[in-house]
Amino acid sequence: MSPAATTKAAPTKAPEFDRYRLRAGDGAGLPARLPKGRYLEEEFAALERRRLWPATWQLACLTTDVAEPGDWCEYRIGDQSYLVVRDHDGELRAFHNACRHRGFRLCEGKGHADELRCGFHDWCYGLDGSLREVVYRKNFGVIANDDLSLAPVRLGVWHQMVFINPTPDGPDLEEFLDPVPSTLAPFKLDERTLTASWTIPLAGNWKTTVDAFNEAYHVEGLHPGLRGFMDALNTTYELWDRGHSMMKIPLGVGSPRFPDADQAQVAQAFVDNYSSMLGMAPGDHPDLDGRSARDWAVDKVRGRAAAEGVDFTHYNDEQILDDYHYLVFPNVVLNVHSDLFTIFRARPGDHPGRSHFDFWLFHRLGSHNGAGPPPEMIEFPEGTVIAEVVNQDLDGIGRVQAGMASDGIDELVLGDFDCRLVNMHAELDRVLAHPVSS
Ligand code: FES
Ligand SMILES: [Fe+2]
Repeated sequence: MSPAATTKAAPTKAPEFDRYRLRAGDGAGLPARLPKGRYLEEEFAALERRRLWPATWQLACLTTDVAEPGDWCEYRIGDQSYLVVRDHDGELRAFHNACRHRGFRLCEGKGHADELRCGFHDWCYGLDGSLREVVYRKNFGVIANDDLSLAPVRLGVWHQMVFINPTPDGPDLEEFLDPVPSTLAPFKLDERTLTASWTIPLAGNWKTTVDAFNEAYHVEGLHPGLRGFMDALNTTYELWDRGHSMMKIPLGVGSPRFPDADQAQVAQAFVDNYSSMLGMAPGDHPDLDGRSARDWAVDKVRGRAAAEGVDFTHYNDEQILDDYHYLVFPNVVLNVHSDLFTIFRARPGDHPGRSHFDFWLFHRLGSHNGAGPPPEMIEFPEGTVIAEVVNQDLDGIGRVQAGMASDGIDELVLGDFDCRLVNMHAELDRVLAHPVSS
């Protein structure tokens, strides 16, 4: 029996939650385990709706979605909808997206307005959420506008990302994110420009998606093209409080499982999969000129940046080449390279086995690249072919979700490579075990 099993469980305010708990490894070789009900059962999804999403900071939209006074953007998560609005004075505010009369969802999608007028009985709110007009007011007897403002939620901005938090309790955004911003500072995210965004429905729980982007181990099976120049074995990890974490995947180094691959083959795999990063075309052949594949790739990226007028001189070789993945708990993945920056967001769907995957792509634009207006988010139908590696990930998420429903599996077994999953799920347990105080 493991030491963990002999420890008497601490009393909890949520006994219905215990059967879903992460079982930590025992430190003596036994791996951590996750009951599969966390991904499959409505009871667990309901716990998340009651205790996670109303009580955490979460990415709602980008500042480019609400760039001008009067711009508004809806953010949906589960059965809740919020509204991010830029007021006439330029201030960003966020509200529950429900009319205080009879709850009509005020706004859907994105838009621009001088005031927020309800489509049901035409009540009108200012961009600051204050109630301005009640049609046929006398019909309500005595009501005070001040009592019927749109219900506000907290809002914070980090770089181009607008976060909201429905609970008034707990840390502000800056404290919540720590130490993610300071460790990402060298990458100058404020110099990146949005170049594409899309969303797609997925046949997988939102955590199945987050898990998939929290480890590099799956390169070995799901991405046979990438393992030719990515080293999952020597990926490094940092685990932080509040469920945040990062990993750094070395590029330009082949999987140690295939030691016979020579440097030219490693470089060729890099070109075949990430040609644009190197400033090359698919099928081009690398000329290593005596360099290792990694050194050659560093030189290619530096050369491409210089040719495009982008300043990469402050980056060390790791920052130039490697693949940095951050998790901002609970559901936002930041994938950072010297040039590219992508945000992945997983939102729960209307069933534990369904979710929405949202994607934003940013580039560091050089003197040869025009910025142009920010692109609108594309809504892809389920199953859309987007790009080879992306579809490998999305298909993999669906197959994991489908496989977890099998009667032949009760729990997930997590090894050292899954340490970021353990960190995230431990924080999720901490949040779910205690009811929201408000
Ligand atoms: S529900 Fe909005 S005015 Fe009636
Ligand atoms: Fe992947």
